Amino acid sequence: MNTEKKLLTPLITGTLELRNRVVMAPMNRRRALDGIPAPSAPVYFGQRAGAGLIITDNTAVAPNGIGYMGTPGIYNEAQIEGWKRVANEVHARGGRIFMQLVHAGRIGHYLNNEGQMPLIAPSAVTAEGLIRTAGDMHLPNSEPIAATGADVRRLIDEHIQGAVNAIEAGFDGVEIHGAHGFLPEQFLHPHTNRRTDAYGGSIAARSRFLLEIVEGTAAAIGKERTGIRLSPFVKLNDLPDYAEEAETQRYIVDALQEMGILYIHLSDQGPVGHGKIPGTYIRDLRRRYNGLVMLAGGYTAETAEAALQAGLADLIAFGKPYIANPDLTERFRFDLPLATGDPETYYQGGDEGYTDYPVYGHTFGANTTADCR
Ligand SMILES: Cc1cc2nc3c(=O)[nH]c(=O)nc-3n(C[C@H](O)[C@H](O)[C@H](O)COP(=O)(O)O)c2cc1C
Repeated sequence: MNTEKKLLTPLITGTLELRNRVVMAPMNRRRALDGIPAPSAPVYFGQRAGAGLIITDNTAVAPNGIGYMGTPGIYNEAQIEGWKRVANEVHARGGRIFMQLVHAGRIGHYLNNEGQMPLIAPSAVTAEGLIRTAGDMHLPNSEPIAATGADVRRLIDEHIQGAVNAIEAGFDGVEIHGAHGFLPEQFLHPHTNRRTDAYGGSIAARSRFLLEIVEGTAAAIGKERTGIRLSPFVKLNDLPDYAEEAETQRYIVDALQEMGILYIHLSDQGPVGHGKIPGTYIRDLRRRYNGLVMLAGGYTAETAEAALQAGLADLIAFGKPYIANPDLTERFRFDLPLATGDPETYYQGGDEGYTDYPVYGHTFGANTTADCR
């Protein structure tokens, strides 16, 4: 048994006790119906409650914020009730759980949201790329409408209300999705934000939307329950490079430091070829920001431990490893081999590929878990 791993040591803040530093990264498994988490979502998350912290699927704060078909929501009573079952199950098993709040903005298809409402974005700039819709069709992202000043206020309030709803559902906190080219990042980026009002133009103006969401959320539910995911230098969802990116991200980090929120979660996509966050950037962020730093993107037990030991982070989030290894922390603890998930069921398949990955050592007929998929 390896008891020396920092990864497996508790992390205790003023309000939160995490039993280890292993985080289950947000993964939209796209199994919700009408935005209500799948009936087996409590089982799925309960199986993974050994993580120090679970972050849910990205969860939409408004009907036209869902982006991908099957994305859960947190904007009505039925959805809050569905999520209560998840939070209860995780807590009953001693785990902690945050909800990732998303508005996908210009990413999505209007057919994928209940009211078939138009997509909305900082400016009417349609995203390149296809999106899956009912009947397994793949259609180009819909053209978004440009948010009016009143829309911008409503979009900010929808995020804040989503956070309030998550707390009502029993969650320990929320993570604002400020990454991966969704709405807050669409405001940050000059390619998608061509506004000339207070929310477009300068770095301060482009950052305003995201920062007002965070500020409002922290005021509504507490800064110690508020985290954010950012993906500087990552190119996802049709966002090209831009000259002021480092400066913009530093501006945001300084503002988040002022606000004193719980954590910044950096999503690196280097291992999958969508952009790497330089180590120098992370070290600089560590100097500017005193809250917790979480890193994600291609980590193994070894590289996670090295990042913690080097002082780059306080927490490490694991995505794909959590799909097929519900007992990931125990596998790390005892240096057990990891199972590999089936990409065919990442985003579909009902309970298959969702709740049916066994813990280590469970036997199915002739197969053992290490190679059962
Ligand atoms: C099936 C799947 C769904 C994902 N959904 C989300 C999501 O909802 N929100 C998010 O911020 N990242 C999402 N991601 C990215 C992961 O959080 C993580 O950053 C990424 O998988 C890299 O970490 P890994 O190498 O440990 O898998 C998703 C990844 C996968 C594989």
